[in-house]
Amino acid sequence: MSKLGLALIGCGGISLQNHLPGLAMCPDVAVVALCDTDPATLSRAKSQTGLDAVYSNYHDVMKRDDVHAVIVATPNIVHAELVLAAIAAGKHVFCEKPMAMNYGDARAMYLAAERANVRHMTAFTYRFVPAMRYMGHLIQKGAVGIPYHFRSCRLQDWGVRNIGWRQVQKLAGTGELGDMLSHRIDYAQFLIGEMDRLVANTKRFHDLRDGKPSDLEDWVTILADYKVGASGVLESSKVATGRGESAASQDYVEVNGSEGSIVFQLEHPHQLQVSKKGDKSLSKISVPQEFLKWPGSPRDAMAGDPLFSFRYDQSFEFIDAIRNQRQCSPSFFEGAMVQGIMDAAVLSVEDRSWIEVGGLGHDLKPV
Ligand SMILES: NC(=O)c1ccc[n+]([C@@H]2O[C@H](COP(=O)([O-])OP(=O)(O)OC[C@H]3O[C@@H](n4cnc5c(N)ncnc54)[C@H](O)[C@@H]3O)[C@@H](O)[C@H]2O)c1
Repeated sequence: MSKLGLALIGCGGISLQNHLPGLAMCPDVAVVALCDTDPATLSRAKSQTGLDAVYSNYHDVMKRDDVHAVIVATPNIVHAELVLAAIAAGKHVFCEKPMAMNYGDARAMYLAAERANVRHMTAFTYRFVPAMRYMGHLIQKGAVGIPYHFRSCRLQDWGVRNIGWRQVQKLAGTGELGDMLSHRIDYAQFLIGEMDRLVANTKRFHDLRDGKPSDLEDWVTILADYKVGASGVLESSKVATGRGESAASQDYVEVNGSEGSIVFQLEHPHQLQVSKKGDKSLSKISVPQEFLKWPGSPRDAMAGDPLFSFRYDQSFEFIDAIRNQRQCSPSFFEGAMVQGIMDAAVLSVEDRSWIEVGGLGHDLKPV
């Protein structure tokens, strides 16, 4: 098997915590170049990896023949520019979520990647949680019957601390909507299918975070109808006081249908709670062995902290799709669909109205 060379563009939090260990797990893969516009971040990444090939300008990375694929993990504002440059240079490309600042850019990224016949993937990481994948499998098998309700609730307490580019509209596009709810918008579609229409609301509670201006929302909710007929209630907050943060804080999903209900909580990534018609309460079930890691992943499913280790399977999926010349899952298609729903949510807040999204994706066919 020939060695695949990867470059990381943006060497901040997610690159060092997720992408480096994920790629390290993949056979015959080497990170050969690092790029970041911040010298301190670049120097930290250099000492963590021992790599000398470090760049502040992404154009220099694209010129390298030993870079076969790039991972774009920068603030959202530059995703489109970097991804389009990578595609133009013939590189396979993984782009962090949310994919872009708007649907038009996300669509252009998808179409460019398809035309260039490079692999393209986005980072809806929660699809890789064993319990989420098993929940999808059970719903597919008919365990809930006809879905009636999708409900997700993500509650974190980030207080008033400065969250850098994430609190600046011109760098992030949206606040809690793109940061946390984008994942829920995605897995709702993974679990019960496409959204038909939505109405949204957002609120910013803090105009200053550690004294620095914030012009984005701390809280977002979407009320939705899905094509299958189910209702959707999706909520996400950064200001749920006392609820903690990260993987151990509230991250709850429930689907109720004509035949049963299934509950997912991220804090129990190897477990679901289920009930069927006639039951009076939920019962805990363990995720079967074959769902504990992504098919083919070299990861030891029982090693490491299960709240984080599932994230490494995302790197495996990207590499495996490159090796086997197949679509990645999730690809830029799913990224663009979520971006379209996010744009509709922003429009709904501005217009105080329901927005139809059932036609989304009709213009995502490569030409
Ligand atoms: N999938 C997930 O679960 C998940 C989790 C966290 C973050 N993310 C996403 O990952 C991306 C990065 O988030 P983060 O938390 O790592 O941010 P971060 O601020 O820690 O790191 C981003 C890095 O990009 C660098 N950068 C900015 N512009 C650049 C450019 N033009 N070229 C090269 N480097 C540049 C910055 O200097 C910074 O070091 C965001 O899109 C975010 O939404 C996804």
